[in-house]
Amino acid sequence: MTTVIKIGGSVLEPEPSADLARALARRALAGERLCLVHGGGKALTAMLSRLGIASSFHRGLRVTDQPTLEAAVMVLAGAVNTRLVAALNRALAQEPRAAAGPRAVGLSGVDGGCLRACAGAPELGFVGEMTGGEPRLLETLLASGFIPVLASLAAAADGSPLNVNADAFAAACAVQLRADRLLFLTDVPGVRDGAGRIIAELDLEELETLSAGGAVSGGMLPKLASCRAALAGGVGEIAIAGAREWITGGAPAGTRLRNPCATAEVPR
Ligand SMILES: Nc1ncnc2c1ncn2[C@@H]1O[C@H](COP(=O)(O)OP(=O)(O)OP(=O)(O)O)[C@@H](O)[C@H]1O
Ligand SMILES: [Mg+2]
Repeated sequence: MTTVIKIGGSVLEPEPSADLARALARRALAGERLCLVHGGGKALTAMLSRLGIASSFHRGLRVTDQPTLEAAVMVLAGAVNTRLVAALNRALAQEPRAAAGPRAVGLSGVDGGCLRACAGAPELGFVGEMTGGEPRLLETLLASGFIPVLASLAAAADGSPLNVNADAFAAACAVQLRADRLLFLTDVPGVRDGAGRIIAELDLEELETLSAGGAVSGGMLPKLASCRAALAGGVGEIAIAGAREWITGGAPAGTRLRNPCATAEVPR
């Protein structure tokens, strides 16, 4: 069982909680092949403001000029990635049976060209649209008992980094790995309808209607587009859930995307 889990940037601020790291470590120790993708929007915005660079967004995507790209590499592949890897390895070491067990390793799509993108809309600058990848490196790590932890920077055709929305990156990663499950952990307990209620289940048609209507905005727009891409790419189970609720396990698991070709359980 291979699961890609995308962890939203705000969930990792000011640093990944011990509870989150423990929940992930336990799944890995139970034999699940985990591949993690993380965002880092809040940390990047904070760094940019320290550098005196304004952040701007277009339909939920960060406009990325050269200085913003440099900061994105520094913050996402540097600080945020390293903190998450360290928290996971700390949690893994604290579990019984951990001595020869899984270990987290940090990388981005640039490493081994494992996830690739091309430059997208010119007005977005160095923002990539996913084109595919070469999953050999990730497969090798998973087969050797490592937990790849990926910052959402993809390799352009010349190998240089492009900033990619972490949801789009996670969807492409799940498709490349032929993952069984894709789970988005975020700072809201699921997708809300126009009345603010969490939607338990969405099919493709409902997803289109919701995206086209006024109920979805900001970072939820690329998340829903990424769900669509992952469904089209054959990922069987997809869900968007609140990190807090997922960690405690006591609440319903957010919004499930109904795949017309699969009848599997909600990812937990
Ligand atoms: N219909 C909706 N239902 C739920 N959340 C919504 C909706 N429309 C907009 N949002 C916003 O989308 C946000 C989640 O997307 P956001 O990009 O901020 O988080 P993330 O993807 O988890 O983190 P990151 O972008 O750092 O990886 C929520 O905090 C909420 O403000
Ligand atoms: Mg987001």
